[in-house]
Amino acid sequence: MKDLQNKAIEVLNNNWKNGFSVPCANLYPFQWFWDSGFIAIGFSHVDMAKAEKEVETLLDSQWDNGFIPHIIFHTETDSYFPGPDFHRSDLSPQSSKKYKSTGMTQPPVTGFVLRELFRISKDKIETLKFIGGVIDKVYFNHEYFYNNRDPKNEGLVYIYHNWESGTDNSPIWDDIWATMNPPEYNFERRDTTHVDASQRPSKREYDHYLHIIDIAKEHNYSDKKIAELSPFLVQDPLFNTMLIKSNQSLIDLYKLIGNNEDKIKQLQKWLDKAIKNFNSKLFDKELGVYVHYDLRNEKPLRFISSSSFSPLFAEIPNKEQAASLVSVMMEKFGNDNQYLCASFDPTSERFNPKKYWRGPVWVNLNWILYYGLKNYGYNDIANRVKKDTIEIIEKAGFYEYFDSRKEEYKNGNIGYGGNNFSWSAALLIDMLQ
Ligand code: DGY
Repeated sequence: MKDLQNKAIEVLNNNWKNGFSVPCANLYPFQWFWDSGFIAIGFSHVDMAKAEKEVETLLDSQWDNGFIPHIIFHTETDSYFPGPDFHRSDLSPQSSKKYKSTGMTQPPVTGFVLRELFRISKDKIETLKFIGGVIDKVYFNHEYFYNNRDPKNEGLVYIYHNWESGTDNSPIWDDIWATMNPPEYNFERRDTTHVDASQRPSKREYDHYLHIIDIAKEHNYSDKKIAELSPFLVQDPLFNTMLIKSNQSLIDLYKLIGNNEDKIKQLQKWLDKAIKNFNSKLFDKELGVYVHYDLRNEKPLRFISSSSFSPLFAEIPNKEQAASLVSVMMEKFGNDNQYLCASFDPTSERFNPKKYWRGPVWVNLNWILYYGLKNYGYNDIANRVKKDTIEIIEKAGFYEYFDSRKEEYKNGNIGYGGNNFSWSAALLIDMLQ
């Protein structure tokens, strides 16, 4: 295991660019929001200064309204599309004057990442000092979400683009694409020069992705207009779980810091409302799991994905709901021929074990599920998630995503997407402790 840990540290150090990390070379040459958070957790075990800097740089990109973008374009390169000239964050009067970025966000992991840094730190006093210097930016980011992304005042925030979900081309979105008919865009893909096209979203899917951005740009990234007009408007259980877990973490940290009664009160208010409505709106009794809700078309998107189990991480389900999640997970995703945990329901006809978020196993979701299962005392299954994660990385390398079918590992081609991928390395380091 020491060897594997050393290799993981090497991956992280190679992807470190003096102040932030790239998810991997070539394919993702900038700083990504939730990648940075997971990377900081890995670094905090071996180099706390880099962990802190990673978070500090991310938070430095915050807009005047509290928003934090999903990509921060620190460098110029034509190896990625769509880059800053397509996204045009400068159209928003609120955007950062310091960095070019996208005008969309990603799952808000920063609150619980700070809490993890404190858990892992060997010098809690110094780490708490660092946290004290940045925590208000995270609070401001949560305030942005609740003030701008919750039109019905449910404590559940929406995402307006599939790239905000993090689960970019999940089959869940297919039903939304069916409601749209975007123009055919003329552009040159760059991702498919780095990675086999069969492992990436299709050209037609990209047309949808670009079209939603164009609508937002036409209105200078105004949240109000986006809520009115975006054809994609979804309450996502994974995204909201990340926000809820981050709220809980901010409460813990503000208590440790002291003198923040008003913020703690406000965070608790957001939290209570969010958990109540999360359970009444997103838990699908018939399927026995959490599902996404399509706010634009006012209907639940009734599919089972690894996101469906993620609320375990923030202790959102009650005991019975948790038992139901675990039983669905083991029945559909967890038989002896499968590595846990496929990103999409392996029994669905939309399942594709090689294509990005349409089926492969992802290490960050496994990490979330590992801690989520432990929260409820499902230690055996949690340990299986951990064992499976270590095994696929040992067999395939530090890939971006992995085949969930064990028999495929006899043939070799099982690690997909980018190689030497930062969060696969970072979260493995955490799981190996
Ligand atoms: C990509 O380029 O596929 C990224 O995931 C967008 O965030």
